[in-house]
Amino acid sequence: MTTSDTIPTHALDIEKIRKDFPILQTKVYGKPLVYFDNAATTQKPLPVLKSLEEYYKTYNSNVHRGVHFLSQQATDAYEQARKKVAAYINAAYDHEIIFTKGTTNSINLVASSFGRTFLTSGDEVLISGMEHHSNIVPWQLICEQRNASLKVIPVDDNGELIMDAFEKLLTDKVKIVAVTYVSNTLGTVNPVRDIIGRAHAKNIPVLLDAAQAIQHMPVDVQELDVDFIAFSSHKMYGPTGIGILYGKENWLNEIPPYEGGGDMIKNVTFAKTTYNELPFKFEAGTPDMSGAIALGAAIDYIQQTGINNMQHAEEELIAYAYDKLSAIPSLRFIGNAKHRAGAISFLVGNIHPFDMGEILDKQGIAVRTGHHCTQPLMERFNIPGTVRASFSVYNTREEVDELIKGIAKAKKMLE
Ligand code: ALA
Repeated sequence: MTTSDTIPTHALDIEKIRKDFPILQTKVYGKPLVYFDNAATTQKPLPVLKSLEEYYKTYNSNVHRGVHFLSQQATDAYEQARKKVAAYINAAYDHEIIFTKGTTNSINLVASSFGRTFLTSGDEVLISGMEHHSNIVPWQLICEQRNASLKVIPVDDNGELIMDAFEKLLTDKVKIVAVTYVSNTLGTVNPVRDIIGRAHAKNIPVLLDAAQAIQHMPVDVQELDVDFIAFSSHKMYGPTGIGILYGKENWLNEIPPYEGGGDMIKNVTFAKTTYNELPFKFEAGTPDMSGAIALGAAIDYIQQTGINNMQHAEEELIAYAYDKLSAIPSLRFIGNAKHRAGAISFLVGNIHPFDMGEILDKQGIAVRTGHHCTQPLMERFNIPGTVRASFSVYNTREEVDELIKGIAKAKKMLE
């Protein structure tokens, strides 16, 4: 049973929520913006914008360096943001939260630092067939360096992982499993508890790419017992350029620093450098202070709205969209997973996704088209790309109706 099953949900006032996001008033080609590209990046609520402005207007200063008033204030706010992230994902310690540039940077950190320490010739890294390029390429880079190989859990026609194949692939050669929690392209929610349980039974650590989960459902790292998770601020209503790597304390202590520079050192001589303690060991150079603090504001916003309420509202909207889309002749879904969140991918007849995207755009509807940085998954389905509508808490049924009208118009023009 998940946390969301146990906590009662409350209906949200979506119109009130929409007022918190100024960009949603934008007109595109004279039409009201319908923003269905939330898996690429979410829009930002007023408290996040205010936090950025306040930082630069009133206390911009470098952290962990100065004794002066502003530096102390910036440091306190930055460390407060770390505590908010830790509380949001229920980390056991604040120092298990590393500020990075985003999901990609977090995964590269683990691939490089873990790989240099634990991967040797003949070892394997196990990923899945629905990974974003950012959870494929970093592992390919380190496997090449360490003479290790990448193995892939296959995906079935519904866009779900084939768990029997996973079991077979989970041999003693595997040194780490790295899978996505929610597919950015298909919206599939993977059975991550099962994956982690089976991997841990063989003492294999698991990294979860939570970039498409963290904004849609409660994520409790202790309950999941996950070893590493990566996610980005900009997909959870926060600013761009900042993200999180969570790692269990013991793993973060065992792996070496990723980048060298200021803040990550204890003592430097030309002969030898000793490294700072967690979390600073992994935060070389001046961090994105305003970004971290504004991410804290985004987390406050999510907490006040209630992640369970948000999940409930989004699930209802996705079910509505799915029903409406299903009624369109010649529309086929790419991915029909039983458990899904965030995104719906589809193709209509022989219409190329780019053409569909362009016609929708002219009607003010923003969707993403193409391979969604999951080229191997496109190859699996033997398609060049999809049209992807991805949802957030501020989206409405009326907007879904606009999408349906837009698709009908595109069909008339192109079929
Ligand atoms: N990973 C982001 C997406 O799926 C950019 O659109």
